[in-house]
Amino acid sequence: MPIRVENLTFAYMKKSPLEREALRGIDLEIADGSFVGIIGRTGSGKSTLIQHFNGLLMPTAGTVTVDGVSTAGGGLRELRRKVGLVFQFPEYQLFEETVFKDIAYGIARRGYGEEEVRARVLRAADAVGIPESLLQKSPFELSGGQKRRVAIAGVVVMEPKYLVMDEPGSGLDPVGRDEIFAHVSRLHSELGVCVILVSHNMEDIARHARRVLVIDDGRIVMDGPPEHVFARVAELERAGLRPPDIQFLFRRLKELFPQIDCNVLNAAQAADELEKCLRPRKLPCSPPSAPVPASESAPVSESAPVSESAPVPESAPVSESAPVPESASESAPVPAPESAAGEGGAP
Ligand SMILES: Nc1ncnc2c1ncn2[C@@H]1O[C@H](COP(=O)(O)OP(=O)(O)OP(=O)(O)O)[C@@H](O)[C@H]1O
Ligand SMILES: [Mg+2]
Repeated sequence: MPIRVENLTFAYMKKSPLEREALRGIDLEIADGSFVGIIGRTGSGKSTLIQHFNGLLMPTAGTVTVDGVSTAGGGLRELRRKVGLVFQFPEYQLFEETVFKDIAYGIARRGYGEEEVRARVLRAADAVGIPESLLQKSPFELSGGQKRRVAIAGVVVMEPKYLVMDEPGSGLDPVGRDEIFAHVSRLHSELGVCVILVSHNMEDIARHARRVLVIDDGRIVMDGPPEHVFARVAELERAGLRPPDIQFLFRRLKELFPQIDCNVLNAAQAADELEKCLRPRKLPCSPPSAPVPASESAPVSESAPVSESAPVPESAPVSESAPVPESASESAPVPAPESAAGEGGAP
């Protein structure tokens, strides 16, 4: 059963002069096995929302139910086994003598036998890419990225149904971040763990989440697949966010190539789309706003028909604003100049 949030309102320091309403009437359902990204400007309420999923915070009004059980109904131990919450900089909470003990900490007093504890620790370590050879080391001997993964393993060891992570990549270099996300993605795709990821990094969200929630001032203001949410640039900007840079590049490219699909969120999709759109022809040598006369800029090879569907030979740049008639190459073949247009220059 899903995580269901109904009309959730939460205020910090209720009934004090410092009372601050951080969540305002949130309705939300998160399906089992999904991968949800939560974005929003600083102070918008992301961390406050996710702390309701495992009962760390209780609603001021409204309800949160997990697997059909209200978080306000007691049974917090069982709830926290199901909903693993990884805080920002979780490695600050490492304290045991060995990596093994640190990972095992969360299940140590749950009545599992020694063998079961060991098996779970090995599974959790493997799930986050910590080799067995590190298990007897002190966590303080590890690199920052390894410490982070040990801390995540300390949550994964409980084999939660929902893994909720608050900025798991922050402070890591790109390689360390990618490693963490590769392991989290595997937990999601191979074990069906529902991942709820809070991040300020739009690229990470675009790459991994299948659904994106945008929070602003304690309210959900957008909810949808990443390609839809990131296409709503003006609304994102109103919420203090901007889409991944690749979206800006593709919006600019669309001015040159109207047929290009802007729903591109990462480098792999960008490469596919560019190949689809541009493979048969080269980039134009000038943007449509400043077309150069065809005689100077558009060398067309002898048999170069130009159309959306027909491939154009290598030497035939195409300007959207100055389309070459279908028969142009046949009626007016132009020899290629010495330095072929489009070969070295960007549009
Ligand atoms: N312990 C607290 N006591 C009082 N107010 C708090 C507390 N924690 C957060 N707030 C306030 O609640 C609002 C939401 O904070 P929250 O930490 O949920 O935002 P966030 O979206 O996670 O921000 P960030 O991106 O900076 O982590 C903010 O106005 C914040 O100042
Ligand atoms: Mg936060």
